[in-house]
Amino acid sequence: MPHAPVRIERSGDVGVILIDSPPVNALSHAVREGLLGAVGRIAEDPHLRAAVIACEGRTFVAGADIREFDAAPRSPSLHEVIAAIEFSPKPVVAALHGTALGGGLELALGCHARVIAPDGRVGLPEVRIGLIPGAGGTQRVPRLAGPVAALDIATSGRHVPAGEALALGLVDAVSQTPREEAVLRARALADAGQWRRSSELAVPEFDRAAFDAQAQQVRRRARGAEAPGRVIESIENALTLPFKEGSAREVAIFAALRHSSQARALRHLFLAERAAARTPAGAMPMDVARAGVVGGGTMGSGIAVAMLDAGLQVTLAEVSDAARDAAEKRVRAVYDRQVKSGRLSPEAREARLGRIGFATELTDLAGVDLVVEAVIEEMPTKQDVFRRLSSVLRRDAVIASNTSYLDINRMADAVEGPERVLGLHFFSPAHVMRLLEVVRAERTSPDVLATGIALGKRLKKLPVVAGVCDGFIGNRILARWRVQTDYMLEDGATPQEIDAALEAYGFAMGPYAVADLAGLDIGWATRKRKAATRDPNERYVPVADWICERGRFGQKTGAGYYRYEDGKRVVDPEVTALVEKASEQRGIARRKIAPEDIQNRVHASMVNEACKVLAEGVADRPSDIDLVLVNGYGYPAWRGGPMFGADEIGLAEMLRRVEAIHAECGAGWEPASLLRELARDGKRFADLNAG
Ligand code: COA
Repeated sequence: MPHAPVRIERSGDVGVILIDSPPVNALSHAVREGLLGAVGRIAEDPHLRAAVIACEGRTFVAGADIREFDAAPRSPSLHEVIAAIEFSPKPVVAALHGTALGGGLELALGCHARVIAPDGRVGLPEVRIGLIPGAGGTQRVPRLAGPVAALDIATSGRHVPAGEALALGLVDAVSQTPREEAVLRARALADAGQWRRSSELAVPEFDRAAFDAQAQQVRRRARGAEAPGRVIESIENALTLPFKEGSAREVAIFAALRHSSQARALRHLFLAERAAARTPAGAMPMDVARAGVVGGGTMGSGIAVAMLDAGLQVTLAEVSDAARDAAEKRVRAVYDRQVKSGRLSPEAREARLGRIGFATELTDLAGVDLVVEAVIEEMPTKQDVFRRLSSVLRRDAVIASNTSYLDINRMADAVEGPERVLGLHFFSPAHVMRLLEVVRAERTSPDVLATGIALGKRLKKLPVVAGVCDGFIGNRILARWRVQTDYMLEDGATPQEIDAALEAYGFAMGPYAVADLAGLDIGWATRKRKAATRDPNERYVPVADWICERGRFGQKTGAGYYRYEDGKRVVDPEVTALVEKASEQRGIARRKIAPEDIQNRVHASMVNEACKVLAEGVADRPSDIDLVLVNGYGYPAWRGGPMFGADEIGLAEMLRRVEAIHAECGAGWEPASLLRELARDGKRFADLNAG
């Protein structure tokens, strides 16, 4: 007999409806049907006076079943199920544990009371997948917790801890034994003969100015994302319309968004994240309890903080007493800032700092399970560190490099047991940025790769596997499209026009503003180093070099592509003059480039390079490339990443765009063979994602 996702157990005169649908009890069609049936049976059962809804497994319902969203809706809808619960002739109490999210929280809000475990959380994360809550969330949360809290919860998608949920009125009790407590409460409601329906509550008094200010801020930060504005609209409906009408409009908005390209894009990213973080078949990650970091600069200390935050025991090694002290100061400074802003308690800071030791000898790393090297980006220095680590560490300890560009295979050459070497490319600041490129070198063993992925998940990062090449997935693709924006400077655009066009596309920040923020000197040094090996037939734009020659290394020197006055970015005529000089030198009559052309050229050059990255096996699947661009490079999530976007446009059209770039820019811009093949065969990148 197939396993029933919903069953009823009896606790005296209370029927306990148990949802058992691993992994996260999502509200699939079978679960909705099971719930509706169970509520009906309890209503008719003369021996039962009340009901409890609880879940087996790790969590209460974590939401609607995301995998069903692309198909046509099937009856019963969650709305129907919740209405049946709310208007059941017998009281129903929800017992929450784990994460009651989205439809899970909406289901609980349809019950007549809620009890939550102390470590339970609730939330409305729909906005993160391009939707609004579609089963009463935007109508019931304002009634229970007030419109200001509702706006915060539904537009941020954050997970609200049990204590806060209680204070806000979203739950009625916190209990170590939520199921038992829910049974008691259900019985008490039946005894009292009356219970509360959240849909019938009036919206409480609230601070309209605070609501409006928050709504305005959400709209400003949306940067092209549609869902946040629709959430605001639906909550506003709750303030002015009766529940029934507000709900009907909520359903209509949900239905309109469900198949929108933004919602499909964000769903794609949700599933892409799970696929990227999966342990490779047959591999076993090793346990990492004690970790080492070599080098305590910005990257090294950020990596140490990420590890401490995840509960690891850390030893950070530097080369001298002075460098060690500076590293310790950096780590402390991160935690001091968090305590000052109220994000961390002083006790938690001390607990974290209590787990790190600072050393000046690599021998102090002897007992660790894994080391991340974050020393200067120079091969001989890295190889020396690897050689010395090899003689100090246990034979099975994993050795990782945080290099952004260099050949990890050559570092592995310096190690006894090269199968234990891999790259762990963190993004700056390492304790904040989610992306982690887990770089598989030629000889990296599957278990070591799995260890890198597992460590990434433990550090609450998004691990994406990459192969070795200059720049791995992200920096390699970045380098190519940045060349293209430099061409556009010479062709007639200004840095501020390019930045504005890409910000309008949805990027958090334009590339020239980003470059100023990151500093221009490192790129200059790299270009000088690579000058001798540059393809002489490929067009080279000298503007960046000229800017650096003037001592303009970006924001830290007060000038780069822009000038900085009192921290404000302003357009600098000196840079405009340099750009015009470059055009003149190349004999180009400058022309206006439309924002759309800028956006399309950037997108097409990303996709073309990404095809080469795929064909070379540097990325395992197109969706991994989307994750890297979205989580490490500011690509707008609601576009689903460049590859998803390319599928939306169609690969034949993408090929045409790349051919146009090639015709205009010449050598180095040949369309990738993979793009040609897919376009010829009428295929999509999505076809390569499976597997
Ligand atoms: N529908 C379908 N499947 C879901 C799901 C959902 N709403 N939420 C999670 N899953 C699946 C994941 O795809 C994953 O499947 P896999 O093991 O085949 O890869 C599995 O459940 C575990 O999820 P994962 O995210 O890896 O576990 P976690 O413990 O890190 O996080 C959650 C659990 C519930 C917090 C997280 O999955 C989440 O935020 N889910 C989305 C919730 C949501 O947006 N709900 C609203 C939908 S309208």
